[in-house]
Amino acid sequence: MALDFDDAERRAVYKAIATRRDVRVFLPDPVPAAVVRRILEAGHQGPSVGYMQPWNFIAIRDRQVLERIAEAVERERVRAGEKFPDERRDYYLRLKVEGLREAPWTICVTNDSTRGGPVVLGRNTIPETDLMSTACAIENMWLAARAEGIGMGWVSMYEKDDVRAILGIPAHVDPVALLSLGYTPHFADEPILQRVGWRERIDIGQIIFLDGWARTWKEELK
Ligand SMILES: Cc1cc2nc3c(=O)[nH]c(=O)nc-3n(C[C@H](O)[C@H](O)[C@H](O)COP(=O)(O)O)c2cc1C
Repeated sequence: MALDFDDAERRAVYKAIATRRDVRVFLPDPVPAAVVRRILEAGHQGPSVGYMQPWNFIAIRDRQVLERIAEAVERERVRAGEKFPDERRDYYLRLKVEGLREAPWTICVTNDSTRGGPVVLGRNTIPETDLMSTACAIENMWLAARAEGIGMGWVSMYEKDDVRAILGIPAHVDPVALLSLGYTPHFADEPILQRVGWRERIDIGQIIFLDGWARTWKEELK
């Protein structure tokens, strides 16, 4: 058995996981490029199907570029609101769903499904495993940022072509996430959407099964 984490190290990993939050409120304090670089390196250490590493990270700190991105996100935020029924829409439109203008850095994470050629080991049966790989890189970044005391907010409300045009991303590459990065006054104890009554975390007893669908995992299981 390769048990090479001591108790404190193990606790630190679970602490980063449990206290990671989607952050939308940022302080103007600068985040050194070296710290951002460490967070990007954590992303690049993520797992990927067939080791294809389909991601790129575009680090943005130019305020004019960011302003154009923020405008594209605002257009889509309002448009997305039209899908909700009236009472839910008003509530949604009051929610803060991004902090792009405040955060000192934004990372655009892209996914290139052509990387690694037409046949990628392990990607023949489930083609979306490239995107899953990029999502794993993003979670790595989220946890690394949390350990650095830096808030990260995932923004997914935009037309991909708007972001492609602003950042010069080739047509075959997908901009899958905009990640705001910056110091924050506060990491909330619970997801913001839970705190404002939008949705609750599902009870874990309802989603873990044992030996087959809908078979209960008893808490006393040894
Ligand atoms: C794929 C994905 C897309 C998301 N897009 C947005 C977004 O556009 N705006 C936003 O405010 N939060 C976004 N989030 C953050 C979620 O709202 C957040 O993760 C969830 O409410 C749980 O909160 P927590 O991350 O603090 O645990 C996104 C999260 C994921 C995983």
